[in-house]
Amino acid sequence: MTDAIGYERVGDIAVLKAQNPPVNALGLDVRQGLVDGIERAESEGAKAVLIYGDGRTYFAGADIREFGKPPQGPFLPDVCTRIESSPLLVISALHGTALGGGLEIALGSHYRIAVPSARIGLPEVLIGVMPGAGGTQRLPRLIGIDASVDVITSGRQVGAKEALSLGILDRVEEGEPREIGLAYAQELLDQGAPRRAISEMPAPESVDFDALYDSVLKKGRGLLAPAVAIRGIQACCELPFDEGMKRERELFMELMSTDQRQGMIHAFFSERAVSKLPELKGVEPRALNSLGVIGGGTMGAGIATAALLAGLPVVMLEMTAEAAEAAKGRIAGNLQGALKRGKISQEKFDHLTGEALTLATDYDALSDVDLVIEAVFEEMGVKKEVFGKLDAVCKKGAILASNTSYLDVNEIAASTSRPEDVIGLHFFSPAHVMKLLEIVVADKTALDVVATGFELGKRLKKISVRAGVCDGFIGNRILATYRKAADHMVLDGASPYQIDKALTDFGFAMGPFAVADLAGLDIGWAVRKRKRAEGMDPRERDSSYMDKICEAGNFGQKTGKGYYVYEAGKRGGTPNPEVAELIEAERAEKGITPKEFTDEEIVTRYMAAMVNEAAKVVGEGIARRPLDVDMTLLFGYGFPRYRGGPLKWADMQGLDTLLANIKSYAEEDDYFWQPAPLLEQLVAEGRTFDDLNKENS
Ligand code: COA
Repeated sequence: MTDAIGYERVGDIAVLKAQNPPVNALGLDVRQGLVDGIERAESEGAKAVLIYGDGRTYFAGADIREFGKPPQGPFLPDVCTRIESSPLLVISALHGTALGGGLEIALGSHYRIAVPSARIGLPEVLIGVMPGAGGTQRLPRLIGIDASVDVITSGRQVGAKEALSLGILDRVEEGEPREIGLAYAQELLDQGAPRRAISEMPAPESVDFDALYDSVLKKGRGLLAPAVAIRGIQACCELPFDEGMKRERELFMELMSTDQRQGMIHAFFSERAVSKLPELKGVEPRALNSLGVIGGGTMGAGIATAALLAGLPVVMLEMTAEAAEAAKGRIAGNLQGALKRGKISQEKFDHLTGEALTLATDYDALSDVDLVIEAVFEEMGVKKEVFGKLDAVCKKGAILASNTSYLDVNEIAASTSRPEDVIGLHFFSPAHVMKLLEIVVADKTALDVVATGFELGKRLKKISVRAGVCDGFIGNRILATYRKAADHMVLDGASPYQIDKALTDFGFAMGPFAVADLAGLDIGWAVRKRKRAEGMDPRERDSSYMDKICEAGNFGQKTGKGYYVYEAGKRGGTPNPEVAELIEAERAEKGITPKEFTDEEIVTRYMAAMVNEAAKVVGEGIARRPLDVDMTLLFGYGFPRYRGGPLKWADMQGLDTLLANIKSYAEEDDYFWQPAPLLEQLVAEGRTFDDLNKENS
């Protein structure tokens, strides 16, 4: 037997204990250990087998690290079938998370008991595949089509109580998995309970699976896995069990070979790797028991909401008592959402908007907080004034953070007597919803201040990415570039609506022009005015058609009109005809003959601009690794998760093709399309962005 499965006899019961930390993933040793354990139990005359997990969980799934490598037997579907076909009574006792292959092992068992805190699920679609070890064949036989479709296509984790009511679990009981499992197994033996193989249960009646497939595909915005999983459920209903298993395996292998699977798994591991910084190993974060927030607008109120929900008391500083009350109103509005969705109780709501939140108009109120985040007006003079005041009142060791989205954090830090305590914490609006947090490390920021930034991110359940100082940091700097590429295409002949459509078809949550309408067109207008005032390089292409829309007081969604026209009560907008007229006028004025763009060309150019700027951001050390850029775009900019991120996507496209495209665009505009040195280097060396991830993780 392998060490991954422990074997013990308790009377008539053979006990198989999974011991493959940290999550008892079903790697080769574990699979082999299970088969060996069942065989040994049978040969030694046991009457029942109990399977449970040591440590924090039952099996949390197949070993994802083995995906993409040549598979080695015994394969998981065979292990499940071997367990199920044992003449002994097999019981699984679940705790922690019985996910994917883990749940499939449990479904191969004859009875399932769990502790109340256990969660089960089939999250395979979340990594771009589908259940491949009988999940789509056994679950529908156990709980019917509707509930199986929900569990399998959402990939969601189901709590023990719900799993019991659905019929996935037979019993839920407090206690240690080994003890409750043994007692249950003994009880079943004493009762003479029969073996209960799900594969021998009748399959549900077939339904209109083509319609179901189409609706699931549409809902996934291009993600294939949940739709393909529907075909697996169909096979359960229409084929005998053994053939259904074969069909499921084929579908699983089909998904395994897709780029989407690679993208999703890249996202899974990168999400975890992104906040692990070698320089922070062994660095203790500073105490973090209270937070100050300066400015209670949408951003400040969102940050305060996130902190309160994470259990951190907040001091909210505003200029006047009225403004402070308005900030409290915004926070209460945000928390109301959590209350309505049942995330917090009325009592908790009262506490968070009561004792946990202090309103203040005097900086002295911040003298005792551990960390202050300012979310005031984006102007260097204003920021410096705020930091000067903080420097004067905050206690020694307090962390002074700016939520600036593009200003120079070094300059802000230099305006205080304690630059080592200064850091950028760039949240994304609405800050209590958006998952991304850019942690901007300035030249003099102390390591334990950086560690505290990551600790805050963890407590607020954010994806925290380390960024260096530059205009726009990682995300907004890259955004500015790909947005420019889109603007150039509009001048050259594409319509904003064609571009938005091409990019949502690619999988983006929204296109860049719909995003601009959502964020407010006044932001871009202010940037254009600032840049023109500062003096632009004559080679930089500028456009002014949207200025006219803004001059008329139209700033996008908030005013009902921008690139699109929005009607009250309706989702989304319709193209604003004034925009097309203004674009045409500007093309005529500039002497541009518009040309046709295919959707594919739009995506190729847009992505080339994104990847090229991202490569500069990595090359300059603003982002530590390509995966840091990927996670920034995924969690802050609506990049489709199933494509992994722009640099994972670039690797899969081939960096040489991408560079060749950039060079061909440079023939028309060699100012905008300057190839990133890192991209040129990788192509010359025949390496990929993922190679850099591996070297730096
Ligand atoms: N295969 C290989 N490694 C896995 C794994 C799997 N199925 N699931 C988790 N891990 C690793 C993680 O990468 C992490 O490794 P690290 O410490 O080197 O970074 C470690 O196990 C702990 O996981 P983490 O996610 O940080 O812990 P958690 O307690 O927050 O969450 C799970 C635990 C199991 C809920 C979560 O890891 C998860 O959802 N795993 C994937 C489950 C899945 O999709 N299974 C289906 C596969 S068929």
